[in-house]
Amino acid sequence: MQPTEDYLTVALPKGKLFGLAADLFAQIGYTAEGLSDKSRKLIISNDAKRIRFIVAKTADVPTYVEYGAADLGVIGKDVLVESRKDVYELLDLGFGKCHVMMAVPRTQKRARLADYAHTRVATKFPHIAEQFFSQYGMQMEYIKMNGSIELGPIVGLSESIVDIVETGTTLRENNLEEIAYIMDATARLIANRVSFKLKFDRINTMVQDLRQVLAAQANA
Ligand code: PRP
Repeated sequence: MQPTEDYLTVALPKGKLFGLAADLFAQIGYTAEGLSDKSRKLIISNDAKRIRFIVAKTADVPTYVEYGAADLGVIGKDVLVESRKDVYELLDLGFGKCHVMMAVPRTQKRARLADYAHTRVATKFPHIAEQFFSQYGMQMEYIKMNGSIELGPIVGLSESIVDIVETGTTLRENNLEEIAYIMDATARLIANRVSFKLKFDRINTMVQDLRQVLAAQANA
């Protein structure tokens, strides 16, 4: 192992955001041979550029960054808010656009949101959901799930779900209907608070380069 104090370590989430995030870093010159979320190799470095990428489970990215195991990370705003981690949010990367919402089975819609008070909500986002329902003075029972949330109401686990929607296909295919919008989300660049100070020049240069690429994409 080479000393890595002067490296920038970036945590990338496996899944939908991975390829887009890796492409974006490649556009500012940060490539790394073999960087893939399918690889079993979980740390991929570019020694010439003094950068290394960690391939992480999505929900763990804010944790790596909060503890300084990664200087930077790419993560959806939804997962970031849910994590309640103490990190800097540096940049909205624009991709991975989706929104968090509440949905119920089409055939079991109730007249008003308040009619769902004291029912069960299946969700990957219990904190976001609780914040939302508490605005309306609604107490709910939150059932934390890790995926395929749409199954909840179908198999009688819950009356509703709080989840992200991107294209709407999953809702449609499972006969669910959105009844309340909660928040928009896109991918964000986050930084560890200490790294941001200690490695300010490198991180700041990277942020400026990313801004340029994003602005050029927006104008294309
Ligand atoms: C997410 C989300 C929905 C789906 C929404 O799941 O939880 O299930 O995407 O996308 P759509 O509106 O385009 O259909 P993901 O694919 O991340 O997998 P998961 O269910 O295992 O969490």
